[in-house]
Amino acid sequence: MSDRLYIFDTTLRDGEQVPGCQLNTVEKIEVAKTLEALGVDVIEAGFPVSSPGDFNSVVEISKAVTWPTICALTRAVENDIRVAAEALKYAKRGRIHTGIGTSDSHIKYKFNSNREEIIERAVAAVSFAKRFVEDVQFYAEDAGRTDNEYLARVIEAVIKAGATVVNIPDTTGYCLPSEFAAKIKYLVDHVDGIDKVTIATHCHNDLGMATANTMSGIIAGARQAEVTINGIGERAGNTSLEEVVMAFKSHRELGIETNINTQHIYGASRLVSNLMNMPVQPNKAIVGRNAFAHSSGIHQDGVLKNRESYEIIDPKDVGIDENSIVLTARSGRAALKHRLHILGIELTKEQLDKTYEAFLRFADKKKEITDDDIMMLAGKHHASTRRIKLDYLQVTSGVGVHSVASVGLDIAGEKFEACASGNGPVDAAISAVKNIIRRTMTVKEFLIQAISRGSNDVGKVHITVEHDGVQYYGFSANTDIIAASAEAFIDAINKFAK
Ligand code: KIV
Ligand code: ZN
Repeated sequence: MSDRLYIFDTTLRDGEQVPGCQLNTVEKIEVAKTLEALGVDVIEAGFPVSSPGDFNSVVEISKAVTWPTICALTRAVENDIRVAAEALKYAKRGRIHTGIGTSDSHIKYKFNSNREEIIERAVAAVSFAKRFVEDVQFYAEDAGRTDNEYLARVIEAVIKAGATVVNIPDTTGYCLPSEFAAKIKYLVDHVDGIDKVTIATHCHNDLGMATANTMSGIIAGARQAEVTINGIGERAGNTSLEEVVMAFKSHRELGIETNINTQHIYGASRLVSNLMNMPVQPNKAIVGRNAFAHSSGIHQDGVLKNRESYEIIDPKDVGIDENSIVLTARSGRAALKHRLHILGIELTKEQLDKTYEAFLRFADKKKEITDDDIMMLAGKHHASTRRIKLDYLQVTSGVGVHSVASVGLDIAGEKFEACASGNGPVDAAISAVKNIIRRTMTVKEFLIQAISRGSNDVGKVHITVEHDGVQYYGFSANTDIIAASAEAFIDAINKFAK
């Protein structure tokens, strides 16, 4: 068995399914190019039949990247497969990922079917996909809770039908590492033809065991790990790319190698976190803010004497350069460009000019500019194309007085103004915006997060607004949290007030 582990990244499919994490096509291309530079083998670019946006993203990503295989998800439905094949037509190497639920609960409640019929549908889907592409991956959804004997029958049947990769998802994150390893080993030992295909793991993190299960599956014989950057994904997320890659890199005795250029890990993590507005928890392994921070005196002393006393990974190996220059108001455009490059962001000259202007304005308010700030500033050139923009905001608030806000909006070039009062400055600002927009809408969720250190830091605001029974997500970051709140509200409104 080869010791090469293929990395299949599903940040743009399973990761992007998370409410509030949706990206536009330009942003998805940016992530796909970063994944290519990182060295992933397969990019799952979307589920083309699910929406025209997803279809288009698969088309554009196929055109934009060269080396990784581009994969498109389908159900075991002919039309899904036809649409996926169409979306993949520009891919240099295209793969269709089709499948069906195989656990008793999926068979009974999702499909109202029986085991034999599910095998027939799985085989039919793989055979149909083979008409369009050579590389067909089959997933047995909820394989984690599927009994091994039946799972082996399904997998043997789809291999006979031409599947090149067989994916064994622990869809609900239910398995224990020993159980998941035994499942993979059972397939290795009992399925005819399994040595001719690649076995894939696809583990969810509901019990916090996604990485452990993936590692166990690989050690038991799987050779493709399905992962996302920062472990983002439905519910508690998917297996995180950085954890699996660095675990195998740290444990060389296991003899498993990937094609990942680990020095790009940190940049990819920041890019995904910022574009998807999904903060990375500070204690997240490998890429969290505290992953390499030693605060206790004993640890600091040990690390200063010899890093390896308390660190198993050199931060530079994952692209964290602690000696990197801190940017300030005196930093030039070249320093900003260099930092953006390290973070995996390449801007056109015009975008760089705009980002640099924003950087200088920002640096007036904040002494030291962090990577998070830079990513946020670089992301603003995407926001500047919005139809409704905040022109100005003035708020009076304090203890013992009523909060009042005046707001100016630029709507497709036309200027509008309004005032409102509220039970606090954010409420007043949001009411003033509502007085201009005049549509029925309700704020469903509102979250302010201070990012890290001092009181001069950036606050990030996530907001969910309901309009006509549909929920829209908005985000902004600003050193002024009232402005961030109004901007996030406007960001959400932009998604329905076309
Ligand atoms: O978790 C899962 O089962 C999936 C499949 C569609 C591969 O995401
Ligand atoms: Zn999944």
